[in-house]
Amino acid sequence: MSAEPYETPTIVRQQAGSSNVFGSTPKESFRAHVAGLPVEELVERFGSPLFVLSESAIREKVREFRMAFESRYPRVHLGWSYKTHYLAAVCQVMHQEGSWAEVVSGLEFRLARQLGVPADRIVINGPDKDEQTLRAAIAGGSRIHIDNQEEIARLEQLAREAGFGGGKRFPVAIRVNMQLDAQHWDRFGFNLESGRAHQVARRVHESDSLCLKGLHCHIGTYVDNVDMYRRAAARLVEFAVWIRKELGTGLDWWDMGGGFATRNTLHWAYQNADVTCPGLNRYAEAICGELRQLPLENGEELPELFFESGRALVDECQDAIVTVVSERRLGSGERALVLNAGVNLLSSTTWYRYEVAPARDPGATVLEQTTLLGNLCMQIDVLRREVPLPPLVRGDHLVIRNVGAYNLSQSTQFIHGRPAVVLVDGQGQPHVVREAEDVEAFRGQDRLPQHLLSDAGSDAVERFRE
Ligand SMILES: Cc1ncc(COP(=O)(O)O)c(C=O)c1O
Repeated sequence: MSAEPYETPTIVRQQAGSSNVFGSTPKESFRAHVAGLPVEELVERFGSPLFVLSESAIREKVREFRMAFESRYPRVHLGWSYKTHYLAAVCQVMHQEGSWAEVVSGLEFRLARQLGVPADRIVINGPDKDEQTLRAAIAGGSRIHIDNQEEIARLEQLAREAGFGGGKRFPVAIRVNMQLDAQHWDRFGFNLESGRAHQVARRVHESDSLCLKGLHCHIGTYVDNVDMYRRAAARLVEFAVWIRKELGTGLDWWDMGGGFATRNTLHWAYQNADVTCPGLNRYAEAICGELRQLPLENGEELPELFFESGRALVDECQDAIVTVVSERRLGSGERALVLNAGVNLLSSTTWYRYEVAPARDPGATVLEQTTLLGNLCMQIDVLRREVPLPPLVRGDHLVIRNVGAYNLSQSTQFIHGRPAVVLVDGQGQPHVVREAEDVEAFRGQDRLPQHLLSDAGSDAVERFRE
């Protein structure tokens, strides 16, 4: 019988239960269930890593959103921001809950149409709108929000080709940006302070085939300063009053974009997002209170009010289950765990200090500050630093919470295929809503030109023929 190989132990000074600046111990509790189902069972059935969506959580969020705004303003529409999470199942739940689609490309427009969203329930933003989409949008009566100067002339032409002109004008909105803090978003639409937005409003108003009927602004993303929304809304009212006075026209709709914060903590935040994230009611109060100040003439109604929230609706509705691959000590002596998912799946890790918890109860134990590394062959592949975690071994599962916004839509195939996504329905039944990617998903779009096929095997010839 051979002796077990000897491994030199690493001795680390432990500080169990010390409190942080907010008076709480740094322990992150364990999380044995995700969307109401045991983590072990989910992994056994669907593998790991795994993204798990809760259908009830999405529906509750949308209902909470609608309640907050619809109780404060007469005609509110929510346009689901497609790019935040493209999965058909997610979009479909949003549409079942009454959301329109907000899209920023031809691809997204077609994704929405494929799901059966009528063109006149699609809002189109984005700096690069293709002609095929614009034609379909004009024909179907979508809400087109003009982003740039060139778009005006292109749209005018397409509207004429669609039969507008000579008194019959297609209603559009212009996107405006404004300075609300030091780092304001100034690259989309036309600037208010410089007077550019005013010039463009006049230009569109004087068009023979377009008419100015809407205003759009999207002031940023993860904006947890409610007062910025209040000021943005006040500036839109001011601009609408100018449009009425100078151009003699009222608005049919305005759109306050997205950007509301969630209960994920930013890396540079001092306090936890549980404390700093304003609830939807606070945003609604700030925005609607200002917009309702718009002076109305002769029985006019307030313009329809659109939102295009992404992050705030889905971020907290999806968790990731990952598994420990190995434990190691970094040069500093700090403990690191390699997990079976990398930053290619969790791009928002550059913003967020994600909450991570082991799936099984560690019992009474000491915690150690731990760096969580991904499974990519790259030094930058760090999912989180300084997570107080109990001892964990290969095969243990961890739950990374609130990873619903943007991670999947921005994920890339890299080294490993993307994992499966499961949606747990309202009755607690899990459904695979996206299969894990295999070799076919990697190579499905590849083609080999003839001169590279000549010495490939017959399978390759069949698969990669141009
Ligand atoms: C025009 C527009 N609307 C809506 C959104 C959604 O923003 P968020 O996910 O922060 O709510 C974005 C994202 O940046 C956007 O560019």
